[in-house]
Amino acid sequence: MFSEKLLTWFDKHQRSLPWRLSSPNPYYTWLSEIMLQQTTVATVIPYFHAFITKWPTLQDLALASLDDVLVAWQGLGYYSRARNLHKAAPLLVKRFPVTPAELVKFPGIGPYTAAAIASIAFNQKAAAVDGNVIRVLSRYFAIPTTNPITEVTNALTPCLPEGRYGDFTQSLMELGALICRPKAPACSLCPLQQDCKAHALQMVEDFPVKSPKIKLPTRYTRAFILRREDGALLLRKRPSKGLLGGMMEVPTTPWEDSPFESRGERIRHTFTHFHLEVDVCPGSDPSEFQGIWVHPKDLHTYPLPTLMKKILKATLALSEK
Ligand code: ADE
Ligand code: SF4
Repeated sequence: MFSEKLLTWFDKHQRSLPWRLSSPNPYYTWLSEIMLQQTTVATVIPYFHAFITKWPTLQDLALASLDDVLVAWQGLGYYSRARNLHKAAPLLVKRFPVTPAELVKFPGIGPYTAAAIASIAFNQKAAAVDGNVIRVLSRYFAIPTTNPITEVTNALTPCLPEGRYGDFTQSLMELGALICRPKAPACSLCPLQQDCKAHALQMVEDFPVKSPKIKLPTRYTRAFILRREDGALLLRKRPSKGLLGGMMEVPTTPWEDSPFESRGERIRHTFTHFHLEVDVCPGSDPSEFQGIWVHPKDLHTYPLPTLMKKILKATLALSEK
């Protein structure tokens, strides 16, 4: 019932998306699912096009350098996704598994992504439960728990429609994106409205139940801007492991928990687990740091995280005044 109504709606209303083909391409499915983790469809589309233009097949991507992948990923954020993409590509070329149990062993593929790829690319029976799906189902069943991933998976499993597992996964995501939106869901257009508990209770926005928000801590660092006479900037590469691993940065002091006096301009940036406050100062002695000199016109050829773009933008704007 539930899945029939949803599929009928999906057949009529699904968006045309560049990775949504009548005959699925597993490379496209995998790439799009990695990009769509923590990122909206609208943001992903141009990056997806850029990737498949530069690397039309999985074989092409498997031969790419990490630097090239990071440069193409610039601005999408959560760069460990790009590093895992680069790590997984040559493994998937050798053997692209079709079951969630096998897929989950690959870098960057968690239980949700494994189920999404298995169902969408290979029409395997699997329940893919992400934030969208949790929102739809926690409303439909009025599930009173925070983060009801197990309840939702258990509720979905008997509903999976034989032969249309991929469409079912996508129909739930599509309903979550177009109709059962976080704010002001369009219940009057929803194919599930008749049996939706939250709707009957007039409590749609009370689900999913939120856990109390924890306040993010702030960390502090000083960034040094060193310029050569010809305008080139000193950049260095971050260690390959950890936050922003393998990306370029202007030299910074270790990131610490206590604030200190400003010497330059203050920039704030928020990561997943903390805010960072950066005091951007002119540096004096380039020999203190190991790095490379990059001319501003060549900056776009290096993998620069959004934080560094903010710092450099402020710096370059100042120096041009
Ligand atoms: N969000 C995550 N995966 C998606 C997909 N395949 N289509 C649309 N939105 C998504
Ligand atoms: Fe979501 Fe409203 Fe549909 Fe219920 S009726 S599933 S709350 S859009």
